[in-house]
Amino acid sequence: MILDYLNGKHNKTPIWFMRQAGRYLPEYRSLRSKHDSFLSLCYNPQVASEISLQPIKRFPFDGIILFSDILVVPDAMGIKVDFIENAGPVLEPINLDKKNNFNSTEKFLDKLSPVFQTIDLLRQHKKKKTLIGFCGSPFTVLTYMIEGKTSKDHFSTKVAMRKKKRQIDHLLNKLIEYSIAYLERQIESGADIIQIFESWAGVPNEEQYENVIVKPNKTIVKTIKKKYPEKKIICFTKGNQKHLLSFLNEVPCDVISTQAIEDQRIIDFCKKNKVAVQGNLDPIDLYVGGKDLEKKVKGIMEQFKGIKHIFNLSHGIYPKTPLKNVYKTIELVRNANVT
Ligand code: CP3
Repeated sequence: MILDYLNGKHNKTPIWFMRQAGRYLPEYRSLRSKHDSFLSLCYNPQVASEISLQPIKRFPFDGIILFSDILVVPDAMGIKVDFIENAGPVLEPINLDKKNNFNSTEKFLDKLSPVFQTIDLLRQHKKKKTLIGFCGSPFTVLTYMIEGKTSKDHFSTKVAMRKKKRQIDHLLNKLIEYSIAYLERQIESGADIIQIFESWAGVPNEEQYENVIVKPNKTIVKTIKKKYPEKKIICFTKGNQKHLLSFLNEVPCDVISTQAIEDQRIIDFCKKNKVAVQGNLDPIDLYVGGKDLEKKVKGIMEQFKGIKHIFNLSHGIYPKTPLKNVYKTIELVRNANVT
């Protein structure tokens, strides 16, 4: 559905939500409570495919996103990753002064084989829906490897970007390699579209941005596009509104997913270069609902008239979002008069 739209086969704005498979769904909470660890869900193809399909059984979303996490990459590289209830991810922080012996690409892909099996199962059940695979961008994943958790100030990462540039470059290059190998296998297993999550694009400063954000995203997108020109790539970036135009000028993605677009030049760029925009409903507006939600959805549909647009949130859905607001949003998007 999303793929057909991007390929110009129909002109109905497609819709899916980031974190559409997750805690706001009672059926997810129920399945989650039967398993000890979050990662055991990600590495269980039957369970992970069932969770990926839960949102589309309930709502007429156009896309199915693979149920997994961006942190399976460091886990498969050999770094210990854990998810602690109500605290989020915890990783064994890497030592930037020592040589880190990561797993070979072969071992890395072997560890991730349950993810590829999940995609294969989803491919068999997706019907007309578009299957979305994903990975984290190298810098975003690296912040977790350095900080060992979700950090508010990214202090250690910022210090390392100043004092240990060579090590940062080396690790980013490693992550580029692993991410490409991972995405290629996702595509071979049946992913129609790939989304690359740069959730921490706002952390580097002006000088560092090109090297740590633009370059890795560009390398991954170009490599995948060269090998699989028919596959579409969505770049999700968060916190880099002021650099978005330079990002778009350099990274040849098919879709840009970001927060609210305040700069008309972005819309003009996307129109001229046939880049689709994904977004941008604030998940808070979805959570609150009511008349304001209606107004926001209509405003977004209006803003993106004339360019290709995939309706989505500006980041993941909040766990306590009322289900009726999700139904309502899909209905509003379906009924909007798009030209
Ligand atoms: O539905 C989907 O979008 C697919 C699955 C998905 C998850 N995480 C499941 C998940 C995807 C695409 C992600 C991406 C992800 N994971 C990102 C990038 C997007 C973003 O949110 O910025 C990041 C930074 C992570 C790392 C991560 N995973 C954190 C910080 C946390 C803890 C915070 C939280 O939301 O709980 C997770 C855990 C996580 N990933 C959950 C889910 C459903 C909740 C864990 C649980 O159910 O116990």
